Amino acid sequence: MQGPSIHTTQRTVLVLGARGTVGSEVTRALLEAGARVRILTRSSNGLAHLPDTVERLVGDVRDRACLARAMDGVASAFYSSPHEEDEEQLARNVVEACETAGARLVFVGVHADGPNRLVRALKRGAFGRLAPHYRPKFAIAERVRRSRANTVLLMPSNFCQNDELFREQLLAGIFSQPLGHRGLNRVDVRDVGDAAARAMLDPSIPSGTLPVDGPATFSGPACAAVWSAALGREVRYTGDDEQSWTRPLRERLSGRKQEDFLETYRMISRFYVPTDPLSVARTTQLLGRPPRSYGEYVRDTLARWRSAATACPGSGQVAGTHLVGIRALPTSAV
Ligand SMILES: NC(=O)c1ccc[n+]([C@@H]2O[C@H](COP(=O)([O-])OP(=O)(O)OC[C@H]3O[C@@H](n4cnc5c(N)ncnc54)[C@H](OP(=O)(O)O)[C@@H]3O)[C@@H](O)[C@H]2O)c1
Repeated sequence: MQGPSIHTTQRTVLVLGARGTVGSEVTRALLEAGARVRILTRSSNGLAHLPDTVERLVGDVRDRACLARAMDGVASAFYSSPHEEDEEQLARNVVEACETAGARLVFVGVHADGPNRLVRALKRGAFGRLAPHYRPKFAIAERVRRSRANTVLLMPSNFCQNDELFREQLLAGIFSQPLGHRGLNRVDVRDVGDAAARAMLDPSIPSGTLPVDGPATFSGPACAAVWSAALGREVRYTGDDEQSWTRPLRERLSGRKQEDFLETYRMISRFYVPTDPLSVARTTQLLGRPPRSYGEYVRDTLARWRSAATACPGSGQVAGTHLVGIRALPTSAV
């Protein structure tokens, strides 16, 4: 983990969903900080890169007994609400297990923040009408916020890593995510991982809600320009054409995750999320350094794709991908 050293707890910390986009980065950051890490995943596939020091449990958050065993003796646990039909019940299980074990819960989800319950309820009502698929997520985040689990609720903005769902298109010179012509704040999930690890390891960080934002807002055409500069060839923005972004999402995601992404992308094309300097300052304070830029994310991602293509040319494997459940793509054109 970059930034100043932190006072780390010597007790075991638990990552739920360590194969996920955020969970894998939290695991990486915890290991870099020298923590004693336990993970609970539904399958052990895709975890060969982790050192033997990581204690691996295979199980499901639906199984309360399994969760209680995973939570035994841990100082803190990380959980990111997955795109599952029963995500509210899963979150209840996690919150209750943390409360029972006396462990801190560090959580990533979608939250309608505000100074008191009334303001948050009004915001949940308003946002819930705009984005009905977020209603369970808002309810979960409110439940987490009010729990007795010394919770740190992280509120990241739009993930840069969503671009990896559109890898084939990007390499063909198209940026299709409908980020509109005004744009969204974009955060690197590596920073979300670093922020979560800090909150898990440093008991002096008080419970509460914390933003995790990137340094700037990017419109769709601005994202295309960053990819264009990194690739050294033209990348066009096509996000105004719904076909252009629905096809990759339908091809590469399934189930509730696909539905959530489709709904979210229909919505965000109409939104503008300017960068709040106070949120960036709070992110910088939590990380102990400024957040990574979108340009840095794009350059690092391209370098990773290129090194994967060199290591196994034509294999069709996407080595080192952060995304769970996506199909492999050809490594040509990288
Ligand atoms: N994409 C964005 O721009 C963005 C921005 C802000 C917030 N968010 C929020 O971030 C969250 C998604 O995080 P993500 O992208 O990391 O998700 P993800 O890549 O889909 O990973 C979800 C993880 O949850 C685990 N999981 C699912 N069901 C489980 C179960 N029954 N028992 C145990 N583990 C289970 C999976 O575990 P296994 O490892 O066992 O397979 C997987 O690792 C959502 O709440 C989303 O709203 C996303």
